[in-house]
Amino acid sequence: MQEIVSDSEAMTLALGARLAGMLPSGSVVALVGDLGCGKTVLARGIARGLGIAEAVTSPTFTVAQEYRRPNGEYLYHLDMYRITDENAALAFGIDEFLFQPNAITLVEWPEQIAGLLARPSLRTIRFRHLDENRRSITFENWPAID
Ligand SMILES: Nc1ncnc2c1ncn2[C@@H]1O[C@H](COP(=O)(O)OP(=O)(O)O)[C@@H](O)[C@H]1O
Ligand SMILES: [Mg+2]
Repeated sequence: MQEIVSDSEAMTLALGARLAGMLPSGSVVALVGDLGCGKTVLARGIARGLGIAEAVTSPTFTVAQEYRRPNGEYLYHLDMYRITDENAALAFGIDEFLFQPNAITLVEWPEQIAGLLARPSLRTIRFRHLDENRRSITFENWPAID
């Protein structure tokens, strides 16, 4: 399993922008890790890399944020923190945001809806706090990142 240690918010942003180029349309990426470990920062970097100029804010309260890419496709940024279980997610309409051929979807707190994400194509990124500005970032089901 590949690990990248990020030393700064700027490095995590740049990593996200690099990862954007590795995500085919239809991809769903699970962003796993504690509060404040950089999931939203990485999502912001991925959005930049996908050509999205709009400010990317945390979807903690809105649950889902939708961004239009210059190519006409979408980036969906989901935060399941306040969604207690899969039934709540389905009632919210989560299906419209997952595994859509014309979208890339990033999911914070994916553990909450693990059953809905269980597909072989799911890509996972795990974050761990090392210290104030360093984060361990590991990748599952990704091609090699150079
Ligand atoms: N290496 C790093 N990568 C990402 N964020 C970092 C890093 N070092 C410090 N930070 C800070 O950690 C916080 C991460 O916040 P955020 O991305 O919203 O977390 P999460 O979405 O995982 O709850 C930000 O305040 C950011 O400035
Ligand atoms: Mg967040």
